Amino acid sequence: MNWKKPFIASIISLTFMAVLAMGCNKADDTPAPQPTGPQLTETPKVSYVGDNSCKACHTETYDSTIHTKHYDAFKPLADFPLDKPLGEVTIFDAANKDKPTSTTLDLSKAKIFGVMMNDYIIAEIPKEAGFTQQYYRVGALKKTNDKWSVESPKQADIDNDGKNDWTAESFTCGACHAPGIETGSPSYGVSCESCHGPGGNHVSATDKKGTMSPEVAKTSCNTCHESNPSKDDQGNYTANTHYGTRNYFASKHAQSSQLNQCLTCHTTHKANTNGSLLPTDNPTDNCVKCHAGKTFDLDKLMWKNPTDERGHFTRDHSFGAMKYEDLQDDPATKPIEIKNPTFIELIKKQLPEVAK
Ligand code: HEC
Ligand code: HEC
Ligand code: HEC
Ligand code: HEC
Ligand code: HEC
Ligand code: HEC
Repeated sequence: MNWKKPFIASIISLTFMAVLAMGCNKADDTPAPQPTGPQLTETPKVSYVGDNSCKACHTETYDSTIHTKHYDAFKPLADFPLDKPLGEVTIFDAANKDKPTSTTLDLSKAKIFGVMMNDYIIAEIPKEAGFTQQYYRVGALKKTNDKWSVESPKQADIDNDGKNDWTAESFTCGACHAPGIETGSPSYGVSCESCHGPGGNHVSATDKKGTMSPEVAKTSCNTCHESNPSKDDQGNYTANTHYGTRNYFASKHAQSSQLNQCLTCHTTHKANTNGSLLPTDNPTDNCVKCHAGKTFDLDKLMWKNPTDERGHFTRDHSFGAMKYEDLQDDPATKPIEIKNPTFIELIKKQLPEVAK
């Protein structure tokens, strides 16, 4: 599992890392085992203070950053006009396969954090319910006309009575889609501090110098945009489909010490007119700054997953080093298998920790 491996340099505070590290590579519907993670008994406490605390001094940055797609990853439920008032539901704990545990939750009174990716409603389940985890996807939003209705996130016969139950899926997605919930930040979604680390000390310091490292943010991208392939128990390699940056490790950019940065091509605080984190409206205008005279067909070069029925749109970031047609994928299956021996050698060489 990916959460075991060290993501980034230890300059990010341990608390930040532990929270992000939990729940990685679990972007499917199978509830993953609870990671035990490192035991952080001596973590220094630096608090997360939320975006509103940055706004007053970094006004311009704030005003542009909140219009990037990072800020669409998690929204308040109030942004979604509902077709009927929230009511009571009986939900089963989908994370507890061994024992059908259920509780009745009044959604109108529950502690609801918000909505993830315009889809799942995220809430806390009271301890007394005996669910295995604390945060769950308790409902899914579906849009009909101009209103949203609340549906069960998954139907399954948990108590074996022949009828499908309303089941609540555990929220392992939070580490990347709403990191603020577990860090106790007033900003639940991807926020300033998701990239910069906790800002409590910086905000309260009279002399701000050195209280916020710009380097932390530069290495933060990989904590959520996991791009390496993974190896299953049978020793088969599969390419990543979820995090937007499949096979980045294989690109010439990643192998150059000067270019090995997302920021060679991406911006952080400002989206272009298409809403993408790119410095130019036409993405290739940025490439030709370095590749003078070259033309790139980005739809071909940065291929999307052709076989995923859930439509994950992740673009390949190997920039031609691992073309889809060369992987030897079995199109009949959902994962993108990597069977080409040359690529397996490349993985072993570049990513010994994955090949282990
Ligand atoms: C009271 C005003 C104030 C607030 C509030 C504030 N900052 Fe700053 N910030 C500053 C100043 C002043 C500097 C420049 C410090 C220096 O001279 O190195 C700065 C610098 C920074 C830097 C650059 C550090 C560097 O060395 O390049 C980052 C990143 C940053 N702030 C992020 C944040 C974030 C995130 C928040 C909210 C959690 C925040 N700031 C809140 C005033 C503020
Ligand atoms: C997606 C990650 C990300 C988010 C979200 C983010 N930043 Fe940054 N920020 C960076 C990176 C990376 C750098 C330094 C690299 C660069 O741009 O040169 C940076 C640099 C800065 C700097 C110093 C240089 C500058 O541009 O002034 C400040 C101040 C800052 N960020 C404040 C903020 C504030 C305030 C927010 C929230 C409104 C925020 N950032 C949100 C990644 C992020
Ligand atoms: C390790 C970080 C991480 C985890 C954990 C994670 N995601 Fe994501 N997810 C991302 C990133 C990064 C993107 C953006 C990818 C892009 O822009 O191409 C994304 C995109 C998405 C999207 C939009 C595109 C798509 O693939 O349909 C959905 C929906 C989504 N995630 C759902 C989930 C759900 C549900 C979970 C939990 C079961 C989850 N994610 C867990 C990082 C993560
Ligand atoms: C050589 C340039 C380059 C580098 C380096 C690069 N990207 Fe990209 N990335 C792009 C381009 C171009 C797109 C396509 C943008 C578009 O069409 O809107 C893109 C798209 C994306 C997307 C959206 C993919 C989707 O699902 O549509 C994500 C997420 C992303 N990049 C993250 C990253 C991260 C994180 C890194 C660092 C690990 C990185 N990129 C490095 C050029 C680059
Ligand atoms: C806390 C997790 C997290 C961190 C840290 C993070 N991202 Fe993202 N990123 C996401 C999620 C989630 C999405 C999907 C947002 C959506 O589609 O609403 C995303 C989407 C994107 C996209 C595609 C959408 C767009 O605006 O073009 C790009 C590009 C991107 N991130 C680049 C970066 C870069 C560069 C960094 C580091 C400076 C970074 N991200 C840090 C979680 C993160
Ligand atoms: C900051 C400069 C810079 C930017 C911006 C940049 N590249 Fe590169 N790129 C390089 C360098 C340097 C190499 C390495 C050449 C080598 O080692 O052979 C490279 C290598 C490549 C390669 C593999 C070798 C080749 O020339 O075929 C591809 C493909 C590529 N880049 C595509 C892109 C695309 C597409 C973009 C824009 C989305 C882009 N690059 C943006 C500097 C850049």
